[in-house]
Amino acid sequence: MCGAFFLQKCMIAGMHSKLQSIVKRWYCLTASPGAAKRQWTTPYWLDMDGIRDIACHRCPKFNENRQLCGVSFGTPLRKCVIASIEAHLHDSRHLNVLELGFGRFTLARNLIRRSGGTWTGIEPRLPRNQRPRIGHAGYGHAGEIPFENASFDRVFAIQSFEHWGQKAYTAIKPLDYADCLREICRVLKPDGTLYLDAPIHFHGHEMFIMGDLPKIRALFDPGEWTDVIMERWRFNHQPLEAYPPSAKVLEEWPLEITSYNDEEVERIRRDASVWLLTISATKSGG
Ligand SMILES: C[S@@+](CC[C@H](N)C(=O)[O-])C[C@H]1O[C@@H](n2cnc3c(N)ncnc32)[C@H](O)[C@@H]1O
Repeated sequence: MCGAFFLQKCMIAGMHSKLQSIVKRWYCLTASPGAAKRQWTTPYWLDMDGIRDIACHRCPKFNENRQLCGVSFGTPLRKCVIASIEAHLHDSRHLNVLELGFGRFTLARNLIRRSGGTWTGIEPRLPRNQRPRIGHAGYGHAGEIPFENASFDRVFAIQSFEHWGQKAYTAIKPLDYADCLREICRVLKPDGTLYLDAPIHFHGHEMFIMGDLPKIRALFDPGEWTDVIMERWRFNHQPLEAYPPSAKVLEEWPLEITSYNDEEVERIRRDASVWLLTISATKSGG
């Protein structure tokens, strides 16, 4: 009896996750730059202490009547990832755009291509002999971008930045953030722009787990970058639920966190709700 109940629950969970994956694929396939432009042109943030705050109840994706997020699939974090991609990357007309660490996620790529831009991607999990070229994907990573100087109008990375310097990441050895940002600057044209997002209180390099915004902000050398803008999505999550880090994610924390005291870590572990940080910046000296 107990076994049958368990099996039934597994089948329902399996069907639910298959359905979610179909909805996600359909969403990415049909993403419309025009619809995104209509939804995101009016300012959607409130300035708070030099950071743009996108509280859930003020987010254009929030469904007021049903009091839930209008993105119908994914974790609370992924819903913010989708919303912020639409807000930032819907207009890439005539732009040459490079994505770092694209994995298997196609929303940004589809929006860029559909709005008239050229998408190119590099990913360290691809075979090393798969060389990327403009308009196509291939092997590469943020520390070594296999393109000429000033090749791109925009470079971006979705849920990847936090892994570049992570101790336990397995695809490549931990990279130095200053080297990566210098390398991105090199392949950007003058006045080219950068867009990054990363989860806070989740995983990756310890500064992202701890939500150390001054340290993250300090990565952007003023000699290389201007107009550095940070946004926090879901930091103010009410009336939506909190999103505490899962037990699996918490297991990685002791390995990554070595520069913060135990009390600080314990406080974050006890109280944290995961939120999304986005960073936009422009290459200086254009
Ligand atoms: C959590 S996955 C996110 C994948 C995809 N962008 C998404 O949003 O679903 C992190 C990605 O970053 C890539 N990655 C890790 N370190 C990287 C680096 N130094 N440079 C570029 N990509 C990197 C990984 O291979 C992986 O595809």
